[in-house]
Amino acid sequence: MTTLAIHNGRVIDPALGQDGIADVVIVDGRVARVGPGEGEMVVEAERIDATGLVVAPGFVDLHCHLRQPGFEWKETIASGTRAAARGGFTTLCAMPNTEPPLDSRAAVESVLKEVDSSALVRVLPLGCITRGRAGRELAPAGELVASGVVALSDDGDAVSDAHVMRQALSYSTAFGLPISQHCEDPELVRDGQMHEGWVASLLGLRGRPASAEETLVARDIALAEQSGAHLHVAHISTAGAVALVRAARARGAHVTAEVTPHHLTLTHEAVAFRPGEGYRELHYDTDAKVNPPLREEVDVAACVEALREGVIDAVATDHAPHAGNDKEIEFDLAAPGISGLETAFGLLMSLVHEGSLSLPDLLERLTAGPVRAWRLDERSGLGGLGTLAPGAVGDAVVLDPEESWPVEPERFASLGRNTPLAGRTLRGRVVATVADGRVVHRLETVGAL
Ligand code: DOR
Repeated sequence: MTTLAIHNGRVIDPALGQDGIADVVIVDGRVARVGPGEGEMVVEAERIDATGLVVAPGFVDLHCHLRQPGFEWKETIASGTRAAARGGFTTLCAMPNTEPPLDSRAAVESVLKEVDSSALVRVLPLGCITRGRAGRELAPAGELVASGVVALSDDGDAVSDAHVMRQALSYSTAFGLPISQHCEDPELVRDGQMHEGWVASLLGLRGRPASAEETLVARDIALAEQSGAHLHVAHISTAGAVALVRAARARGAHVTAEVTPHHLTLTHEAVAFRPGEGYRELHYDTDAKVNPPLREEVDVAACVEALREGVIDAVATDHAPHAGNDKEIEFDLAAPGISGLETAFGLLMSLVHEGSLSLPDLLERLTAGPVRAWRLDERSGLGGLGTLAPGAVGDAVVLDPEESWPVEPERFASLGRNTPLAGRTLRGRVVATVADGRVVHRLETVGAL
């Protein structure tokens, strides 16, 4: 029997509406007891002193890229899950834009095999919507479900053909599977490089308009409503798209949405300007190049407000690691994406510190919110995910909401050093992470008792 006791922290479990000082006892990978003094009752245990710290369920990420197989120089399942542990994430839903793409049972099974041998935290793969992510014919959804995928997505690209998307949504109802759509119409995006707005004009870069996202969200909501399917809007980024999701949900449509830490905190100005420099110098920061692009203040405000209301169910990182030579090139040629697992919590805490979001609400959108949105509990067969209820999987994080730390990409566990936050100081840190009852990350400063 292995026992872990986390002592005397402020335990916030949004699923149970719990917020108070308590100990968390995890036995053989499952939460056994939560309550004041419970840790004292166990004799033989590994111990973490969480006095003055916050304890919450492990974070659940509906959207990340682990790159294996096919792009192991950008990330592997081992390095990506190590980055996850440092960021407090204990469950990762991994996108299928690997090489080969996860559009067959064999491909999914080979990933699950690698997960078994090298992952530090839980990985739940997604399967492709279409064969080869080519957008033309459906991938075998039944076979993918049988192999264990938790949702379908061609993320990185939208399914732009309306007929194919209609078929995909309609088929998905047979399995109750979420269809996670990358909502950017390629015909409107063309070769756009960043958000269409004044910064793009200043830099002389072609823009990706907000309407590229909004027209696709509107179309897909209509298609989902007609079939009764579950549409999930991946990385929502515009005020207009948020309004569409809000209205669809008010009508009772089965539409869920996620937003990334970067779309909640950064604007298109991050591409051209650095904090502290004002508008003196102009940059072409490829580390701020991401799809969908960083938008405008009004969009950021709409996303934050919708997250607070629960119209957006979850924060998802869209962790998209790339190698140096994918980014240290001309802006037009640079790969889009931000390596986000390790900075997510610190960046999101800026919303709490500025008073836009409460800490319990933020933690809900990182735990119970994503689990509920995709019914991950039932789908994964695990039972008790995203909560510290007795019997739940023993996933927990210990957080210091006040600790400030510098973002040093060269010290990331992720192979992807691509972050526009390099050199910035974040306030809020994951000091320990427990996955399945095992300590998978722990800063030296965290006491043992
Ligand atoms: O910026 C992005 N990068 N957006 C995506 O949707 C895909 C991702 C990637 O795979 O690099």
